[in-house]
Amino acid sequence: MIVGGAVRVPGDKSITHRALLFAALAGGRSHIGGALTSLDAKSSARVLRALGTTISPLMPGRVVSVIGRKRFVRPADVLDCGNSGTTTRLLLGLLAGHSFKATLTGDASLRRRPMRRVTGPLTQMGARFEELAGRDGLPLAVRGGKLAALTYEQPVSSAQIKSSLLLAGVAAGVPMHIREPQGRSRDHSERMLRAFGYLVEDGQEGWIHFEPTGRLEPFDLQVPGDPSSAAFLVGAATLATAGELRLSGVGVNPTRIGFLTVLARMGGEVHREAPGEEGGEPVADLIVRPAPLRATEVSAGEIPGLIDEIPLLAVLAARAEGTTIFREVGELRVKESDRLGLIAENLRAVGMLAEVVGEDLHVTGTDRPPAGKVRTEGDHRIAMAFAVLGTLPGAKVKVDDMACAAVSFHGFAKVLRSISAK
Ligand code: S3P
Repeated sequence: MIVGGAVRVPGDKSITHRALLFAALAGGRSHIGGALTSLDAKSSARVLRALGTTISPLMPGRVVSVIGRKRFVRPADVLDCGNSGTTTRLLLGLLAGHSFKATLTGDASLRRRPMRRVTGPLTQMGARFEELAGRDGLPLAVRGGKLAALTYEQPVSSAQIKSSLLLAGVAAGVPMHIREPQGRSRDHSERMLRAFGYLVEDGQEGWIHFEPTGRLEPFDLQVPGDPSSAAFLVGAATLATAGELRLSGVGVNPTRIGFLTVLARMGGEVHREAPGEEGGEPVADLIVRPAPLRATEVSAGEIPGLIDEIPLLAVLAARAEGTTIFREVGELRVKESDRLGLIAENLRAVGMLAEVVGEDLHVTGTDRPPAGKVRTEGDHRIAMAFAVLGTLPGAKVKVDDMACAAVSFHGFAKVLRSISAK
């Protein structure tokens, strides 16, 4: 395909969730421009409304207005977090600091995902949880209250665990000391908390030190374009035969763009222009040109910085010369699907070469046109990654559910068609 055009990708999902949560606990009206309006963002808005927050409808191109009430009110009903792990885990941290009982649930995918990674440390702080299905996962009842400070070493580098604990520190007004073991995960929560006057310090060996010195106040924020959504279009443009694609206003926070570093190592051609700042985050336009790719090794320490981009990078690796190895990617088993298993299974299903070796993923490039059926299990990033593979000349890739892309990127299939002329 020949690639062309200029696209503004949807607002950053991680930042939109955080902006909604912080605004909900500020006393007054906040404005969020460029917010993501996809299903996951709507899940955050839905549960925050049930907790007493007034939020205007999430619609593309509209500034979201949020009236926060400083403290949540006891919800009348079960809180349905839909497909969104970030909504659930960050909210559990905030609810741990509120002295009422709330019950959280979600769709079938979310109910399968582990929650003890946050309820464990939150229990140590003094919150109480009830696993209503009798196993690690939703539905969960939480009863919060007065919490103690915590020093905690996370079992995995995860921004959701880290942010959940930081938010518990905010809601309860206690210091927190948290360590991520293997590489820094995204730092949006830390940046926003610093803007509210909280002390958040990066210590040695992955430690983060938090002191409750700030206060959540109403704010106006412009959300950058989501680099994780941009990644799929970067991938499509890289695999194209000719042309150039411009993606404007993409967030380029260093903790989010590991995929650009890896892609550059593979021979990808992505240039940055018009650097700027939006909402305390660096942004830039990305200019992408097609390029032949070679294999690389992605180390365990690089994984937190590109965790959501592995489906896309795996698809690109399937077209690169040689065998690409992604080290220690076991975390992918507990994403919206068993992403590790599904990436390998689907690459093989369309005639590519991939295998899971222990906790590593190996993908060997071929130049055969991909053809076959892709099983997404409703996982948006699996759907989008394989749709990108389907843009190759001669490809016959049938993705079983493209609608699930709307979890993070409403209208993805249309945008993908709009940048390609076969
Ligand atoms: C997110 C963190 C990541 C990521 C998810 C969003 C966040 O999860 O996969 O899509 O906004 O904090 P983990 O931190 O659990 O790896």
